[in-house]
Amino acid sequence: CNYLVEKTRGEIIDILVEGLGRLEYRGYDSTGIAINGDKRNSIDVYRAIGKVSALKQEIDNINPNRDVTYASHSGIAHTRWATHGQPKQTNCHPQRSDPRNLFTIIHNGIITNFRELKTLLVNKGYTFESDTDTECIAKLFLHLYQTNIKMGNDIDFHELTKLVLMELEGSYGLLCKSVYFPGEIIATRKGSPLLIGVKSENKLKVDFVDVEFPNENAIQTETPLSNECKTDNNDELNSSNYPTVDKKEFHEKAGLVPITANEFNLRHSQSRAFLSEDGSPIPIEFFISSDAASVIKYTKKVLFLEDDDIAHIYDGELHIHRSRKEVGKSMIRSIQTLELELAQIMKGPYEHFMQKEIYEQPVSTYNTMRGRLDFDNNLVNLGGLQQFISTIRRARRLIMIACGTSYHSCLATRAIFEELSDIPVNVDLASDFLDRKCPIFRDDVCVFVSQSGETADTMFALNYAIDRGALTVGIVNSVGSSISRATNCGVHINAGPEIGVASTKAYTSQYIALVMFAVLLGEDRISKNERRREIIQGLKLIPEQIKQVLKLEPKIKQLCENELSDQKSLLLLGRGYQFASALEGALKIKEISYMHSEGVLAGELKHGVLALVDEELPIIAFGTRDYLFPKVVSSIEQVTARKGHPIIICNENDEVWSKKKLENDRLITLEVPTTVDCLQGLINIIPLQLMSYWLASNRGIDVDFPRNLAKSVTVE
Ligand code: G6P
Repeated sequence: CNYLVEKTRGEIIDILVEGLGRLEYRGYDSTGIAINGDKRNSIDVYRAIGKVSALKQEIDNINPNRDVTYASHSGIAHTRWATHGQPKQTNCHPQRSDPRNLFTIIHNGIITNFRELKTLLVNKGYTFESDTDTECIAKLFLHLYQTNIKMGNDIDFHELTKLVLMELEGSYGLLCKSVYFPGEIIATRKGSPLLIGVKSENKLKVDFVDVEFPNENAIQTETPLSNECKTDNNDELNSSNYPTVDKKEFHEKAGLVPITANEFNLRHSQSRAFLSEDGSPIPIEFFISSDAASVIKYTKKVLFLEDDDIAHIYDGELHIHRSRKEVGKSMIRSIQTLELELAQIMKGPYEHFMQKEIYEQPVSTYNTMRGRLDFDNNLVNLGGLQQFISTIRRARRLIMIACGTSYHSCLATRAIFEELSDIPVNVDLASDFLDRKCPIFRDDVCVFVSQSGETADTMFALNYAIDRGALTVGIVNSVGSSISRATNCGVHINAGPEIGVASTKAYTSQYIALVMFAVLLGEDRISKNERRREIIQGLKLIPEQIKQVLKLEPKIKQLCENELSDQKSLLLLGRGYQFASALEGALKIKEISYMHSEGVLAGELKHGVLALVDEELPIIAFGTRDYLFPKVVSSIEQVTARKGHPIIICNENDEVWSKKKLENDRLITLEVPTTVDCLQGLINIIPLQLMSYWLASNRGIDVDFPRNLAKSVTVE
């Protein structure tokens, strides 16, 4: 939104489209924007299937007048990863209330009761044009707006939003733009991230927005709305002049839970920020986004919205209201300065973000450790855990909860946690943890690991743990993300922005952050002194050793071209510390090269997987040295005895593998530097990252945008 900053429509389009480009990694089935039409109180919507470049093309084809200039203008844009409905043009966002675009909506999340709402609205005569859950939000806006106007209520945009939100179940980060409120914008969230960047040449009067809540006296007694509806002329409600809707009928038809009268008091919960020295209007621009990456080019000053916030922007002012009842308190939304540099999220000389991120690992792993390890005294300093570390040491159990690659970093470090802390450790996939309704106790410590800090399943699991009183720890990359804000304490892994869908540098940094956490936990055990020293000294060498492994790239590239290019399937074998490497390697390969790959616990080979082994099937085995080495060698022998074709990741100059190579000329080795057993996974995963990259790249796959996947899965 810009206010008193003259911009042509062309400039607005360019800003929106460029912002979408920076969000593409979040989802890229389809894109769209809504901007003012030739008249200020009309809205034009442009949408396209596919990537942002397709939208640009679509806009060029339509060729709107780019020169129309507005002193204040709000535009919205969206890149979508389908949850409801196929990627087709009518399913793209913005979704609209009607063909005249009276209300346009972009939405991230899922409305779980959209079928009931749709039935209700269809009964009211609305025609739906998409299969999305979002369309019912746009139509609800229109329906509730018209109902209020008919009843003589000159409803305000944020009050209307509150009424709409009362009907929605599920999660949302949503923006609404309407011809009835030209130049205004609504931004609201529940379970999906949203931030607001603020840009002005003038000095701002305040650097925070204070969200005030009504005091206790202003709250009426709790009475179901269905009762209130029976006395339509209820004085109390009418005197409050709060817009009322024909809710009884609305709920009866939709079979929805009645809304309580309490919620009618929510108009008190608001705040306004003039954002100028003397309160007078100033030229100002607001950039609302689900990710700082699309805002950073314009401003580094941002405030993060919280769940149930409704931000209403108009006339250069930002107002924050609350959609839930809260009593007598005040909350500050401070305007923070982002540290992120745009260059950090650009590709640089690399072909793909993933490749750049693989090559960044000597630096990103160093950044994870920087200032946190005392190599002289073999101590760990993690400021974000300091206050809680003695409580964590007394925990009855640690539960590590995550999804995808983050889950693998938990598996990779579980053993070292148990060894150093003597606390039992569970590792859970967030969705499964919730599906099982895992019992949680107040003396449990739950560790949530997430690159984005926004993954919906992990966030739901976190809320579940918070509700049960467990201490929560976040191991997160994105500063200011939902998980980092909601946990009691935690560690930022400081890997820098990760854009490639296939997580690489976040994995190695999570791994290191977790190892440091384990070492810190064990610091009260003298018997573990030597082990801790060994690990800390080992960590010191990791960045340099990663640099060494990266030199294997030409050999790996060749291997992908010659040995693996025509394969349909691949097995990865590991045990002990290397089981996580096998799972993570297999995930990397399947997610970007679309080749079937499976990580197998070497000890389980004979319980089924051996049946797959033949002369053709390539098997990558993690054969680096640790106390399980003899068992791994024996598993690989079982494979070669069945004419299997293994590729071994082994330590440099390992005599066992050198000898075996002499005996079997089909045996291929990739030699990697040696480190401490519990850190070896940091080194061993690099060849697999490179292999997945080249397998995908050789197949002509757009590595950063694998089909059907998104970087940050903010829906359940
Ligand atoms: C998605 C991404 C994965 C990631 C997982 C968990 O599936 O494609 O790369 O590992 O989400 O994400 P998080 O941000 O919580 O680590």
